[in-house]
Amino acid sequence: MERQALPLKILEGKERSTGYISVASGKGGVGKTLITINMGRIMYSRGKRVLLIDGDLGLSNIHLMLGITPPKNLYHFFLEMLPLRI
Ligand SMILES: Nc1ncnc2c1ncn2[C@@H]1O[C@H](COP(=O)(O)OP(=O)(O)O)[C@@H](O)[C@H]1O
Ligand SMILES: [Mg+2]
Repeated sequence: MERQALPLKILEGKERSTGYISVASGKGGVGKTLITINMGRIMYSRGKRVLLIDGDLGLSNIHLMLGITPPKNLYHFFLEMLPLRI
């Protein structure tokens, strides 16, 4: 997918060295959120800037597993067009 998106990013002048990892499955409760958190922690500990997005629009719970209350969520990104960074 990254390879397909590159020409579009170049056209938009937004080419960056950002990596993306999607964690998905057709079933709930199989550990997607937990493995995402752990991968994020490892990458952060290695000096990467990490943005975790829980795309479970029905019952996102990554903030609960991290014990945080994020000031913004996807509602603000999509409907108020605010950036995802805190
Ligand atoms: N490898 C694992 N060993 C034990 N429990 C796990 C493991 N992976 C996930 N869990 C637990 O299973 C439950 C569901 O995990 P979660 O990451 O929320 O799944 P998903 O995001 O796929 O719905 C959570 O309570 C989580 O702590
Ligand atoms: Mg989940």
